[in-house]
Amino acid sequence: MNKPLPVIIDCDPGQDDAVALALAFSAPEIFEILGVTTVAGNVPLNLTQRNARLVCEICNRSDVEIYAGCDKPMKRELVTAEYVHGQSGLDGIDIYEPEHPLEKTHAIDFIIETLMAADDNSITLIPTGPLTNIGTAIAKEPTILPKIKEIILMGGAAKEGGNVTPSAEFNIYVDPEAADIVFKCGRPIVVMSLDVTHQVLTSRKRLDRIRAIGTKTAKMMTDLIAFYERYDEEKYHTDGGPLHDPCTIAYVLKPGLFKLKDINVTIETQGELTRGETVADFWNVTGRKPNVQWAYEVDDDGFFDLLNKQLKKI
Ligand code: RIB
Ligand code: CA
Repeated sequence: MNKPLPVIIDCDPGQDDAVALALAFSAPEIFEILGVTTVAGNVPLNLTQRNARLVCEICNRSDVEIYAGCDKPMKRELVTAEYVHGQSGLDGIDIYEPEHPLEKTHAIDFIIETLMAADDNSITLIPTGPLTNIGTAIAKEPTILPKIKEIILMGGAAKEGGNVTPSAEFNIYVDPEAADIVFKCGRPIVVMSLDVTHQVLTSRKRLDRIRAIGTKTAKMMTDLIAFYERYDEEKYHTDGGPLHDPCTIAYVLKPGLFKLKDINVTIETQGELTRGETVADFWNVTGRKPNVQWAYEVDDDGFFDLLNKQLKKI
């Protein structure tokens, strides 16, 4: 029996971040959650940290520590996505001020202190929002890098095209400079971009299957998804919307669901029209050294089988 994987989940809840958190909470034998750090993204930081605490409370995970991080990108003004997630960031469920506490330590200090105290190649970072916290921590204390086992992130787009501009996905668009630091950090990176998350669509049938689980957490998940998916359904004319962030957690739980390719990805930070583009060199035309494993295909039925199996546990 392997020891649980020590992880830090960095997120901007966001309905799909909430599903990712619940999926991670469902497998304590797999994830040793050292802490959940929050960042400004889908909604401002005061709401993403509140939302992370609320999800913990609903999932009865009083043991999980929540930290607040950066309230704006490293060098740019914050861009948020209330048009997708609603004003609260978790529209779809009843929002209240949770009793679950916010830790006093800043998320950047928590990340640095935790990594500095860890063994080399031991901690997995799972960012599902803009990379501001991770990029800032690396810039502030580069000696944390050898401690990182792997970074499994949701962000970017290539063949699918962007969801904020024609060339950029939201998480990378919001903080391209932070993303540039992360993608150049030299540690193993797995990228769950729109190229793969747009294959993981909820659909009415799949949502009904989750709702039939009948638990408080399953109800929260389906209420959140039912609100959140409307935006992508209207935009892409699909039955259901993509579950972006849970793909990172599903990869840890069942990596065989995904097909990956080692490629070079470079972040556009200068472009006026292409700010935040993940320039993905699928066919090695640049000669630039591969720096990520890029997920390009997923067994979507297998993903939802896993999600249902795990949600029944919490
Ligand atoms: O583009 C999708 C990503 O942006 C997801 O992480 C979603 O939560 C938002 O943060
Ligand atoms: Ca997110």
